[in-house]
Amino acid sequence: MLIELEAITKIYNQGQANEVQALHDVSLQVAKGNMICLRGASGSGKSTLLGIIGCVFPPTRGRAVIAGKQLARLPDRFLTLHRRETIGFIFQRFNILPALTVLDNITLPLLPLGMSPRQRKQRARVLMEQLAIQHREKFPAGQISGGELQRVAIARALINDPPIILADEPTAHLDSRLSREFMTIMDNLKAAGKTIVLASHDPLVTDHPGLDQILDIRDGSLHVS
Ligand SMILES: Nc1ncnc2c1ncn2[C@@H]1O[C@H](COP(=O)(O)OP(=O)(O)OP(=O)(O)O)[C@@H](O)[C@H]1O
Ligand SMILES: [Mg+2]
Repeated sequence: MLIELEAITKIYNQGQANEVQALHDVSLQVAKGNMICLRGASGSGKSTLLGIIGCVFPPTRGRAVIAGKQLARLPDRFLTLHRRETIGFIFQRFNILPALTVLDNITLPLLPLGMSPRQRKQRARVLMEQLAIQHREKFPAGQISGGELQRVAIARALINDPPIILADEPTAHLDSRLSREFMTIMDNLKAAGKTIVLASHDPLVTDHPGLDQILDIRDGSLHVS
C-alpha cells in the first residue's frame, strides 16, 4: 500500500479552549495506481486528511505510513524532504504567485534540489507542452485565465515527478468544461501509474467513472460507500 492510515486522530490546538478534533479514528489504505475521492461537507475534515496524507503535518494519534515512511517518526526536516519527493499537491486556491512568471511558478519546487536553471526549464517545458500552457511561459501568473492557472498548478505539482498526487477541491473555481478537462488529466496520470487522492463535493468529480473508491467523510469520520 502506498498510503496506509490506521486509527488516525487529528486534534488542532490540543488542550486549549479552541481545541478542535478534526479527525476521529480514520483508517484508510490506498494501493499504488488507484484514484480515490474523499467526499464531505464543509468542515468535515477533507483538507485535514489531505494534509496528513500529504506529509504537511503528522497526526495527533495513529499510524500514518506514506510511501513507506511513518510520519510520526520523522523529524520536521525529514517530513519536509519526504513531502518534496513524494507528494504533488494541487491546492484549492492553487497557491500560485501572481507576480512570478508561469515558468518560475512551475519550477519553484525544484529550487531546493540545486538543479541548474537550464535543467529546471527543460523539465518545465515538457509539462507545459503536455498541459498546453507553453505559450504562457513568460507571462506573470496573475495575467492568465483561470483554466490556465489551474494547469500551472498541476504542472507545479508534477514537476518533481511525485508518486502521489493530491488535489483539494480542484474544480471549485472551474466551469464544467474545465472540470471535465481536469478529470481527463487525472485519468491520464492514473494511467501513468500515479496514485491520486481527490477531495471534493462536486458531482463531476465524485461521480467520475475512473474512481476506484469514494469515501464519505462526516464530522471527521470515514464511511466507505
Ligand atoms: N489550523 C486549524 N486550526 C484549528 N482548527 C482547524 C484548522 N484547520 C481546520 N480546522 C477545523 O477542523 C475541522 C475540519 O477542517 P477541514 O479544513 O479539514 O475541513 P474541510 O472538509 O476541508 O472543509 P471545506 O470543505 O470547508 O474545505 C473544521 O472544524 C475546521 O474548522
Ligand atoms: Mg477543505
